[in-house]
Amino acid sequence: MNIAIIGTGNIGGALATKWALKGHTILLGVNNKNHFKGRGLLNNQNTSVSSISEAVSKSEVVLIAIPPTAIFEVLPQLNNVAGKIVIDATNSVKQSPEPYRTVYHCLLEKTQGEVVKCFNSTGFENILNPTYQGKGIDMFMAGESDLAKKVVSQLALEAGFGSCMDFGKSDKVELLEKFALCWINLAIMQGQGRNIAFNLVSR
Ligand SMILES: NC(=O)c1ccc[n+]([C@@H]2O[C@H](COP(=O)([O-])OP(=O)(O)OC[C@H]3O[C@@H](n4cnc5c(N)ncnc54)[C@H](OP(=O)(O)O)[C@@H]3O)[C@@H](O)[C@H]2O)c1
Repeated sequence: MNIAIIGTGNIGGALATKWALKGHTILLGVNNKNHFKGRGLLNNQNTSVSSISEAVSKSEVVLIAIPPTAIFEVLPQLNNVAGKIVIDATNSVKQSPEPYRTVYHCLLEKTQGEVVKCFNSTGFENILNPTYQGKGIDMFMAGESDLAKKVVSQLALEAGFGSCMDFGKSDKVELLEKFALCWINLAIMQGQGRNIAFNLVSR
């Protein structure tokens, strides 16, 4: 698939790397082609850089991995994303994109994309390496679009996650951000370190 990466920092860079390794075509969408975080991603296979509009127009999947309030600068450059899968990996931990509660809600209202929340609930190190005790950890997704969930589940498995669990619909998106905050709390504030992850166990 052609995947546009909007936000080529920690999270965007980690997913761009994993998906390039799986043979996807990665289009980094940036404001300034000569100066952006993650320039080294261009050393990955199947990876090129262009403007945000161009990357999005050539892709079936669009990953949004930017600071939440930057969505207002990015939105006009997305143009028409009707029918495209739009993945929101952001967390409005410090600041919400007001008047929206999350970037997901903004994308849902302002675009006609198949919007889904995913890849927000763990640190980028766990995206680069989701393997613990020889098994891929769980990833979680939320949103209305069954199509987006199907595609994002496959992309999570390709990135090495053991599963991509359905966290619910739009009403669970903020809960999924709070879940991310639980990871941040344990990893950073409570000093567990960033090499920790959540897994669902059942019997
Ligand atoms: N870090 C994590 O472990 C983690 C985990 C889960 C979720 N998240 C979420 O993922 C998002 C990104 O976090 P990160 O750690 O990857 O951040 P980061 O490393 O600082 O990267 C941010 C990226 O966003 C781009 N950006 C900023 N403002 C922009 C704008 N106005 N238009 C277009 N691009 C813009 C930056 O572009 P330039 O290169 O041009 O500056 C950069 O590529 C945040 O919402 C964060 O909460 C992060």
